[in-house]
Amino acid sequence: MCGIIGVLGNHEVSPLLVESLKRLEYRGYDSAGIATVNNGKLDRRRAVGKLWNLSDLLVHEPLAGKSGIGHTRWATHGAATEGNAHPHRSGPVAVVHNGIIENFRELRAELAEAGITPETQTDTETVALLTRMFMDRGMDARAAAVETLGKLEGAFALLWLFDGEDDLMIAARKGSPLAIGHGDGEMFVGSDAIALAPMTDRITYLEEGDYAFITRAGAEIFDAAGRRANRDEQRIDLGQAQVEKGGYKHFMAKEIAEQPVVLADALRHYLPATGLNLPADLDFSNIDRIILIACGTAHYACAVAKYWFEEFARIPCEIDVASEFRYREPPLSERSLAIFVSQSGETADTLAALRYCSENVAKTVAVVNVPSSSIAREADIALPILAGVEVGVASTKAFTAQLLVLAVMALQAGRDRGQIDDATLAAHTEALRSLPGLLNQAMGLSEPIAKLAESLAEAQDILFLGRGPMYPLALEGALKLKEISYIHAEGYASGELKHGPIALIDRSVPVIVMAPHDRLFDKTVSNMQEVMARHGMVLLASDAKGLSVAGDGTWATLQMPEIAEPFAPILYAIPAQLLAYHTAVAKGTDVDQPRNLAKSVTVE
Ligand code: F6R
Repeated sequence: MCGIIGVLGNHEVSPLLVESLKRLEYRGYDSAGIATVNNGKLDRRRAVGKLWNLSDLLVHEPLAGKSGIGHTRWATHGAATEGNAHPHRSGPVAVVHNGIIENFRELRAELAEAGITPETQTDTETVALLTRMFMDRGMDARAAAVETLGKLEGAFALLWLFDGEDDLMIAARKGSPLAIGHGDGEMFVGSDAIALAPMTDRITYLEEGDYAFITRAGAEIFDAAGRRANRDEQRIDLGQAQVEKGGYKHFMAKEIAEQPVVLADALRHYLPATGLNLPADLDFSNIDRIILIACGTAHYACAVAKYWFEEFARIPCEIDVASEFRYREPPLSERSLAIFVSQSGETADTLAALRYCSENVAKTVAVVNVPSSSIAREADIALPILAGVEVGVASTKAFTAQLLVLAVMALQAGRDRGQIDDATLAAHTEALRSLPGLLNQAMGLSEPIAKLAESLAEAQDILFLGRGPMYPLALEGALKLKEISYIHAEGYASGELKHGPIALIDRSVPVIVMAPHDRLFDKTVSNMQEVMARHGMVLLASDAKGLSVAGDGTWATLQMPEIAEPFAPILYAIPAQLLAYHTAVAKGTDVDQPRNLAKSVTVE
């Protein structure tokens, strides 16, 4: 979602602000803007659409100054127009904002009573108007910002800049992350460390409720109660913040290709030669229920893991989408373990679900890609998936890395509960260790898939079918395809086909069947035959054995390496992702930043 950058520098900041915003493009946005203070004078430039529109504008209407803030906006309140783009300004105040001010209607009413009328449809403008109102009443910038903060409800990250103040930015965090970067006589603020990576590797993360007065001399940080707070300065690994395409046409292609290495790294950490390696306080022996909660692709990773926890540990396991779970307020017990899966670690619904659980279950566990994220910090135990920065909006390497960590957890649960014998455990760990090699082999399908994708790109609707743990993968395959190619796609459990979706089948509907030759294979083949009997266009992804039994009569086949049954979804994620990727490329869509989507969904 929206991205924030702020610089109190020693050089002209406009180019630096735009460059930093480029690093935040991956979060998704539909307008952008910057504001600077030059010799005490505040000014701003904003443009709708891609950042090059803002860059073009700055060529014709440059903005001087060594202090500035910038923003990429993903529209929530009000359309993507220049007027609604950030920074929002009122008199001496400019502000950029991530998140939502939930009580902005009440605040607007309060402003109206004071005779102040907003000019935009946004919630953010309210912040600028309030701050100005307090300054008009005699407060200085610092006091006015703090007074404004006291009035705001919701989840937000804010950064203010002021007319007449060349050496001041005010930052605040409540619900949306914000990082302060330290330079030599320069200071920076970013909505994540990626934005700051070229400028500094010395970062201080604001904590929930913190606000900070930032000058070139440093940052004074205060907690929610207004007390001075000491927050650690950390050195971040700049390698981890690399966001280069590395010769690939798209980040998504790079991230798909990275998966063998990502899984090898995660295996080294979680499954070293000595065996399962999870924190000692993650103990499944006294648990009677597991709840897995997430959104989108991460939810499908949970749905696969349900099969594993039930099979390996024989423990009841529920899965839920966070946005439903949080408002359903389900009964919980002190013998439940709740697992929250999130690439970004900032997804608003998942975070809210975690907060709902935190007092009421035995333990909360976060499976995240960003170890400094809110979800990682608020859970009792955080397990990093070690996938490195994921830039493509469509999650790929995070999905398979989440699956790997969840598989190791399920095996640990089986062992803790005495449900898995040594030989089976050894066979499963061996199978997991073979994954990097197998994923590498599957990457060889990229070229044939690119050819098939030319036909798939013509389709209006595409169905994905799978059984057992391949069912959630069918859901994930459909999600991936629809989000980046904009082709309508649905995933179904193969057995559900004749309960409705078979009505859709005709010559024009490709049906993608993900089916390793496992114990349910024959059943899936029967469902596939039903599709072919109705002239459906079947694409079967299976291993050599599966294809020799069932490949005849299909429209196309993809030969996959053999894989131990439970872990097939990790391997088959590769063709699912490649099908989506190449179809989107064939259609010419914006693969890395598909329309309307944001990478880190920090609003509900
Ligand atoms: C789809 C995708 C989304 C995310 C979802 C949750 O490709 O990326 O469905 O999986 O928005 O995001 P995180 O994992 O950051 O909580």
